Amino acid sequence: MDIFRTKSVEQSIRDTEAPEHQLRKRLTATDLTVFGIGVIVGTGIFVLTGQVAKELAGPAVAISFIVAAVVCALAALCYAEFASTIPVAGSAYTFSFATLGEFPAWVIGWDLVLELALAAAVVSVGWAGYFASMLASVGIELPATIAGDDPVVNLPAIVIVAVLTTILAVGIKLSSRVNLILVITKVAVVLLVIVAGLFFINGANYTPFIPEPVPTPRVEGLKAPLIQLVFGITPVAFGVIGIFSAAAIVFFAFIGFDIVATAAEETVTPQRDVPRGILGSLAICTVLYVAVSLVVVGMQRYSELSTSAPLSDAFIAVGQPWLAGIISVGALAGLTTVVLVLLLGQTRVLFAMCRDGLLPRPMAKVNPHFGTPVRLTILIGLVTMALAGFVSFGELAELVNIGTLFAFVVVSIGVIVLRRTRPDLPRAFKAPLVPVLPILSVLACVYLMLNLPVQTWLRFVIWMIIGVVLYFAYGYWHSRTAMPWQKAGR
Ligand code: ALA
Repeated sequence: MDIFRTKSVEQSIRDTEAPEHQLRKRLTATDLTVFGIGVIVGTGIFVLTGQVAKELAGPAVAISFIVAAVVCALAALCYAEFASTIPVAGSAYTFSFATLGEFPAWVIGWDLVLELALAAAVVSVGWAGYFASMLASVGIELPATIAGDDPVVNLPAIVIVAVLTTILAVGIKLSSRVNLILVITKVAVVLLVIVAGLFFINGANYTPFIPEPVPTPRVEGLKAPLIQLVFGITPVAFGVIGIFSAAAIVFFAFIGFDIVATAAEETVTPQRDVPRGILGSLAICTVLYVAVSLVVVGMQRYSELSTSAPLSDAFIAVGQPWLAGIISVGALAGLTTVVLVLLLGQTRVLFAMCRDGLLPRPMAKVNPHFGTPVRLTILIGLVTMALAGFVSFGELAELVNIGTLFAFVVVSIGVIVLRRTRPDLPRAFKAPLVPVLPILSVLACVYLMLNLPVQTWLRFVIWMIIGVVLYFAYGYWHSRTAMPWQKAGR
C-alpha cells in the first residue's frame, strides 16, 4: 500500500486546467487582502481583547497580540512560499499532497474541516448573539426558543449561513464585492474605536502595565491544559507568563490569514499576489489589534472590562452609549465576513479533495453558469447550518485552534521537505532562513497547542481517527493519484 504517494506540483497545476473543474480566475492582491481582513478581524478584536486583558494579561494584552502575531507571521511566511509555488485551491491540503504524500494530505484536509466549517458555525452563533441583542436594543425581543443563550434551534445563525451560502454559490466575484463592503464597515468601526477612544484614555489605567502574577486555581481533569498535565505546572494569571497564556487564546483572533491561500487558484497572478494577500492582511490586522487593545485598556481599568462586548461597553463606561451602538453594527458586519470567508475556504479545500478522488468527484463539479462548485457549496452550507442551528458550542471553539495550529505545523514542515525534494521549482516568494524559520514556526505552534485543554486534544484525536477510517474505506481506493494513466502522465 502506498499511502505516501505524492502528487507532483506539475500534476496539481495541470488538474486545475480540466474544463469541468476549472475555477474562474478573477482575484487580485487587493481582493485577497480584503478577504484576509474579512476573515481575521472578528470575535478576536470584538470580544477576546477584553476577556484576556481582564483575566490573564492586564494592559499587557497588547504584548500578547504581538506574541501571537509573531507565531502567525512565522507560519504565514511558510504559507506564502507554498502558495507562490503551488497556486492550487486547497491550501495546506494541496501543499501536503505535493510534499508529504496522499495520506498526510488527507489528514490535513480532514483537519481543516475543524478549522473552517466548525469555525464558521461557531462564529455564526456569535453573530446570532449580536443580532439578537441589537434587535433587543430597538425593542424587538426574539423568542427564547429560536435565539438567545440556549435556544432549541438557533434561527438567526441558520439564516445567516443560508444567505452567505447562496452568495458564495452565485460567484466568487460577488462574494468578494459583498465582502469588500462589509470589511470597509468593520474596519471603519475599528478605526472609530481607536480614534474616538483616544479622547477617553486615562493614563492611570496603564499602571501597572504588567500586573503582578496571581496563581489561578488549578484546573483539574479534562479541562486542564495538556502542558499542565505533562509538566505539572500551576497556571498563573498576569505577569510575564500571563502574557504568553493570553497569546495562546488570542491566537484565535489571527486565524484566517491562511485561508487566503485557499483562493490561490482564483487569483490572476497567484505567485505574486497570494504572498502579498497573506502577509498584508496579517500585518494590517496586527496593527489594528495592538492599537485597539491599547486604547481599550486605557479607557477602562482592565479589571472592569466587559468580557462579552468589551469595546462597546468601554464606550458606555465613559458615557458614550451612541458610539457603543455603532460598534455593535460594526461587530455584526465583522462577524458576517468571517463566516463568509470561512465557508469559502471550506468549499475550496473539499473541492480540491473531491477533484483528487479522495471524496466523491462529482461533488466538485463546477457549475458552468456561476463558475463555482455549487453542489459542494450547498452541501457545506447545509452541514454548517445544522451545526450552527442545533449544537451548542462553547469549548468547541478550542477545537478550531488546535485544528489550525496542526495545519500550521504540517505546512511549516512541508516547506523544508519541498526545498529538499524539489529545489528546482520556481518560487516567486521564498521564506527567509529556511530551515530555521519553519522549525521555529513548528515549535511555536506546538507550544500553543500544549496550552489547550486535554479534552480538546481528545476530541481532536477522535476526529482524526474517524478521518483515517474514511481514508482507508474510500479515499485510498478512489484516489486519482493511484490511477495508472495519471502515473504515466507524470
Ligand atoms: N480570527 C477570527 C475571529 O477573530 C476567527 O473571529
